[in-house]
Amino acid sequence: GIHPVILCGGSGTRLWPRSRADRPKPFLRLLGEQSLFEATLARCRAGDRFAPPMVVAGARHIEHVEAQGHPGMRIVVEPEGRNTAPAIALAAALLPEEAIMLVCPSDHYIADTGAFHAAVDAAVALAGQGRLVAFGIAPDRPETGYGYIQRGAAIEGGYEVARFVEKPNEALARDFVASGEFSWNGGIFAFRAGTFLEELARHRPAMAEAAREAVVRGSDNGPRFHPSASVFAGIEAESVDYAVMENTARAALVPVDMGWSDIGNWVALREAREAGEGGNVVRGATELVGCRNVMVDSDGPRVSCIGLEDVIVVVDGDEVLVMRAGDAQKVGKLGGASG
Ligand code: GDD
Ligand code: MG
Repeated sequence: GIHPVILCGGSGTRLWPRSRADRPKPFLRLLGEQSLFEATLARCRAGDRFAPPMVVAGARHIEHVEAQGHPGMRIVVEPEGRNTAPAIALAAALLPEEAIMLVCPSDHYIADTGAFHAAVDAAVALAGQGRLVAFGIAPDRPETGYGYIQRGAAIEGGYEVARFVEKPNEALARDFVASGEFSWNGGIFAFRAGTFLEELARHRPAMAEAAREAVVRGSDNGPRFHPSASVFAGIEAESVDYAVMENTARAALVPVDMGWSDIGNWVALREAREAGEGGNVVRGATELVGCRNVMVDSDGPRVSCIGLEDVIVVVDGDEVLVMRAGDAQKVGKLGGASG
């Protein structure tokens, strides 16, 4: 089977005030009935192709993981965040070398599950040939918060990777999008555990060794696995994109059109939700008069707006956020969001 490895780390400060330090983005019911984490688990248990998932999560996420997860999952508890490369390395070191891992972020939205599963099949076939497979999304703007992957020669099920560039500056991102040769990195990966550890050992030998050591000296506690905290503390924090994907010669790309969004901010959430009259998107009691492309999300008080355009209003308990949609990226810098 395919071994889903679900990553729960960051807190999603740009969705404040809905997301808070103790209520991080993956566990919020932002779209539909399920949280993004629950939806991720559901996508990775359809049919009989998936083994039980492994969830790698920071200690402060564990309560949510257990509340929203399901029996049979294994939880790897990180004593502290070291970004994604060490998190994936822990999972790889716990699995058999031949196991095919499907690494999934826990905080993304995917509209078309069928398209996702078709891409998984193509990616798993390539992973079986010793590839590190990334999922490519067609870019529609020069977003600088993503990785960019340049397509190389076509191969069965996808493409060679000519170049992987994590979080380029804006000028570079513009060139990449204009060239038509690049996909965004969707943050989902497939590879054999052994292939990943080999490539990590090649490009980040200290990290690979420490992750192995943290697992060897770790302890099992029911469904939870605790890597050695003292060994893990010595690992450098780095994302898999910088540590491995930018450097490996064994990368492959599977392009997929699946209605992907990483719901990076309130505007992305507005786009993923259904718009009503005037392009307005509302949740909770609202009265809008003469408004266009306004988003209101209130968990209590009734919100009334007159004559607004492209404004976002969020009410959450004792916090209220009002901003122009164009400023959605700045939310994480607010004192409330970071404090
Ligand atoms: N377990 C664990 N531990 N998970 C982590 C950690 C950690 O220390 N840090 C991050 N994660 C989880 C996050 O919760 C998220 O689900 C996923 O790993 C990716 O981390 P982000 O911090 O959200 O990465 P990013 O958005 O800056 O960039 C990545 O995703 C983009 C697409 O959304 C990169 O892979 C980019 O190349 C990609 O385009
Ligand atoms: Mg992200």
